[in-house]
Amino acid sequence: MTKKTRYESHQPDECGRVNWSERENKVWAALLQKQLGLLQGRACDEYIHGLELLNLPAERIPQLSEVNSTLIKTTGWQVKQVPSLINFDDFFRLLANKQFPVATFIRSDEEFEYLQEPDIFHEIFGHCPLLTNPAFAHFTHTYGKLGYSASKQDRAFLARLYWFTVEFGLVNTTEGTRIYGGGLLSSPGETIHALESDDCVHAAMQPLDALRTPYRIDIMQPIYYVLDSFDSLFDIAEMDIMTLVERAKNLGLFDPRFLPKEKQAG
Ligand SMILES: [Fe+2]
Repeated sequence: MTKKTRYESHQPDECGRVNWSERENKVWAALLQKQLGLLQGRACDEYIHGLELLNLPAERIPQLSEVNSTLIKTTGWQVKQVPSLINFDDFFRLLANKQFPVATFIRSDEEFEYLQEPDIFHEIFGHCPLLTNPAFAHFTHTYGKLGYSASKQDRAFLARLYWFTVEFGLVNTTEGTRIYGGGLLSSPGETIHALESDDCVHAAMQPLDALRTPYRIDIMQPIYYVLDSFDSLFDIAEMDIMTLVERAKNLGLFDPRFLPKEKQAG
């Protein structure tokens, strides 16, 4: 959902298959290997279970049809090939139809640790395992339907809730705090930062607070919201979220925990 990108999605052939290059498959393989090591004891069990169900190839980028065969069977979701950038209308319309947008490009070697644009590793490795989970699938579907009929101003508030759940969410478990946000699960650098750095804060997830929390997409996050339990995502989806958006609008945003982009040194 960024405004500019140097990446371009591959066009699939008439059978819907993308011909990935050797370099691109190698980036996937290296990312997968690195993250599988890092996520032991850091990702939540629901994610690990979904990863087992998807059984992603280790040495090559999967075709979307391979991922769909598992998603359709578990929650009825699908992944849908999109260009490298799509607008909010398309984004919400797809989610409202249980279609998760996947741009068919993969990051360069220079952006191995973190990139702003959502590449295919982020979308498939980061998000698709949890799209096999009913609570996560329900939350994402509800979010899509709300966003599709929301005003531009309300969408900006909704985007913050998505950011602090689907992208950068943490969850309490009996074994400690674990990751479920796809932005973290697909980012080697931020996986460690989110759980082990002193430069970030963990706050209990209150949807109204998340709606009011500003974020930047180009830095490691200074705050993460922690769910009580994974299934509380289901409860959030059942809340009157648009009334919470109205309250958030009246109360206004919290002060950012970061400097504005243009004022940062360097
Ligand atoms: Fe994402």
